[in-house]
Amino acid sequence: MIDLHCHFLPGVDDGPDTLQEALALARVAVADGITHSVLTSHVDPDRYDNQRSSLETAHAEFSQQLANAGIALQVRVGGEVRLCAELIDLIAQNQVPFLGEVDGWRIMLMEFPHQIIPAGSGRFIYSLLKLKIRPLIAHPERNKAVMAQPEKIEEFTEAGCWLQITAGSLAGRFGPVAQKVAFGLIEAGNYCVAATDAHNLSSRPPLLSEGRDVLRTRYGEAVANSMVHERPAEILGLTSV
Ligand SMILES: [Fe+2]
Repeated sequence: MIDLHCHFLPGVDDGPDTLQEALALARVAVADGITHSVLTSHVDPDRYDNQRSSLETAHAEFSQQLANAGIALQVRVGGEVRLCAELIDLIAQNQVPFLGEVDGWRIMLMEFPHQIIPAGSGRFIYSLLKLKIRPLIAHPERNKAVMAQPEKIEEFTEAGCWLQITAGSLAGRFGPVAQKVAFGLIEAGNYCVAATDAHNLSSRPPLLSEGRDVLRTRYGEAVANSMVHERPAEILGLTSV
């Protein structure tokens, strides 16, 4: 399985504080059957001053530490990019860590604030699409506005955004509403992938298999495989994994 969203890099956001905690997360991911993890630290000028270049430096260091520890996890640099006014400058400065490219579109893991979808988001997304940037919206099923009115996401999916559903939401870790909304977003035929959004071992572990198993039971092997393997592999440009 391929995890497109996790917070493993130590000391750069609200993921692990120490290298030891970070390595412990990576070990659990491997034990869960994850072969590739994209380290999507927060890129949010208001909270965490991470950019592509600084995250690449941290990633190189962490990759070396994984190798030293004998942990067989392939890691890539990514970022969970907050929708904010500064984003346009970050793009212009080539400081957005994209996940990859599909059919000429750069794929950007993008998060809304947790409580709302800000006014004007639709216009902002349109300006990203004009730059051939396709937002992969992080965990819409946990956004309070979408939980209250799931149809609010349609403006974005109809414009061409993709959706990243949290594996823990599928498994019920975030409660019945998030789970129901997650199922509804998949059943509406949206382009969805599943990822862990792992932060720690206690409440936000790097477990993708529990989500995959729910997908298998509910929708069958083909849908499960597309969401935890095929689509993530295409985004990362992996031809054989
Ligand atoms: Fe995240």
